[in-house]
Amino acid sequence: MYRYIGNKTKLLPHIMEKTSQLIGNTGTVVDLMAGTGSVAYEFRRNGYTVIASDVMTYSIHHLKTNLLLEQAPPFDGLVNNNVITGEINRYAEVLTYLNTLTPVRGFFFREFSPEGVPQIGCEPRKYFTSDNACKIDAVREKINEWIQSGWITDLEESLLKHTLIMAVNEVANISGTYGYFLSNFKKNSLNNLCLKEELFSIGNATGHTIIQGYAEDLASSIIADLCYIDPPYMKRQYAANYHILETIARGDFPDAIGKSGLRDWWDQHSKLCTKTRGLQSFEKIIRDINCPRFIISYSEDGLFTIEQLRNCFEQFGTVTIDEIDYNRFKSNDSQLPQKITEYLISIER
Ligand SMILES: C[S@@+](CC[C@H](N)C(=O)[O-])C[C@H]1O[C@@H](n2cnc3c(N)ncnc32)[C@H](O)[C@@H]1O
Repeated sequence: MYRYIGNKTKLLPHIMEKTSQLIGNTGTVVDLMAGTGSVAYEFRRNGYTVIASDVMTYSIHHLKTNLLLEQAPPFDGLVNNNVITGEINRYAEVLTYLNTLTPVRGFFFREFSPEGVPQIGCEPRKYFTSDNACKIDAVREKINEWIQSGWITDLEESLLKHTLIMAVNEVANISGTYGYFLSNFKKNSLNNLCLKEELFSIGNATGHTIIQGYAEDLASSIIADLCYIDPPYMKRQYAANYHILETIARGDFPDAIGKSGLRDWWDQHSKLCTKTRGLQSFEKIIRDINCPRFIISYSEDGLFTIEQLRNCFEQFGTVTIDEIDYNRFKSNDSQLPQKITEYLISIER
């Protein structure tokens, strides 16, 4: 399960219907802030050619897996170097190999588990049980070794890192995001980390483009029939709230700062999470991109009011706003109203 802030899985039918109203059932669609890749994947399944981007590295691994694979890649390098036999399902064999590695007391054990001693000398952090942290260390180090030896391709690396992230999400001791860990281990975090096979969708797996970067910088190089933008709508920065997934995606060993052990995330901060610069970012993206139609997702809870957004977007064309009401996830003592309105804003130049 992927509890990603702003994940649009529930809104997919509305987004697809709006897309089809605006451009019909073919064409090139760009998903500029693609996150988990749920919308990009649905565009692919509906027959569009997809350009997808995000500033986060983990998103790029999800996107490559979701857009470019119809079946698991062949892992020839691992067969040729006798890591796996290659006789049956090679992806399953690789996962069995990774799931049964000898655990390693490495970076995750030191920084993110209760028996570790963080480098900055603070109290141990409890993102994972010590056993799971050692499993994550073993898998990360093995993937790094395979990359350095040239035994796995870029796409194989992305699939393995995507698979590891999905498994890590199942056992993380957090409430929603990785901004902080819980003081006591919750039930699912006590389960053993287990990498499981991803299911693949057949068809329309070629011609898609995946790019990592800021939408503001990429926009001027993109040509598409429709641009879907699903921006952050709160002050919470994704780079801070998903720092552990970013570290898995990069395979690196950053300084873990403060009580919560965040990596330095400033190089991936988003201007869209700020009231002072968010609207300028929207303007730059919409002005620079070579695209006649836009769908922008936004929430009633967002930093900007719908009127502020309408004023901003009307500079570029005719604006239509669809409102979708759905039940908010809320805890029993929450004062927030039960219903929340999600906006699908379209612009036609
Ligand atoms: C609301 S989430 C997208 C969720 C996605 N539609 C899904 O269903 O998973 C917003 C995404 O925008 C990315 N992001 C934020 N600012 C960005 C920027 N300036 N350029 C590119 N990506 C950005 C974040 O990393 C995050 O993944």
